[in-house]
Amino acid sequence: MENIFKNNIIRLKEVDSTNLEAFRHASTCAVVADCQTAGKGRMGRTFVSENNQGLWLSILETDILSSELTAWAGVVICKILRKHGLEAQIKWPNDIQVNGKKICGILCEMKNQAVVIGIGINLYQEDFKDLNSIATSAKLCNIFIDKEILLSEVLDGLNQMLLDYPSKKEVYLQYFKEKCNTLNQEIAIQIEGDVKKGIAKDIDNNFRLIIELSDGSIVTKDSGQCLTLGNP
Ligand code: BTN
Repeated sequence: MENIFKNNIIRLKEVDSTNLEAFRHASTCAVVADCQTAGKGRMGRTFVSENNQGLWLSILETDILSSELTAWAGVVICKILRKHGLEAQIKWPNDIQVNGKKICGILCEMKNQAVVIGIGINLYQEDFKDLNSIATSAKLCNIFIDKEILLSEVLDGLNQMLLDYPSKKEVYLQYFKEKCNTLNQEIAIQIEGDVKKGIAKDIDNNFRLIIELSDGSIVTKDSGQCLTLGNP
């Protein structure tokens, strides 16, 4: 099967951010770098991406302009990591965790009729220093994953995802719900500047999180900060 990304892989030793670099290109491509000097996370945060410690990858595509692709990509990555033996789970909306620690972050951005999906997967780190309580790598989970093999699998998965969109939505949604570790957790969310507590109840048909607040009211969040507090 033709893979639209494998036909145009841009490999770099160092870049500011593979997401930024992907937007510098006009047509479908994949950008992979050994190291990012300004890796971007959600909410303006930085994403630590040290030299050859993980897969730092972005794809640019112009066919499907949907913010739902973050969730769809989460399903793709979760499945691949599980195939490698990791007990991967999806932390709504865009993290993949193992044992409650982040192993992968996904940042989907849209600009000028193009979507960039950036994926950072921690592979070989042994020490995250002050992030040790919240971050992990395949190595720390005693799993070795070859970066080149993973790149090939991820590009195949993303290529298939675009072919599946939107007809296989039910399949992706079902998997997302099954593997989402945010459900039934007590969480804190930002609503109009206030932080409120509630229980994550469900994922709706647009991959939004349905939360029951402590006063019994129901709110739906399509992204934004969502802090997990612990099991209710
Ligand atoms: C997050 O955790 O908030 C999202 C992190 C996304 C990180 C990846 S690494 C490859 C791509 N390039 C970036 O600058 N960010 C994404």
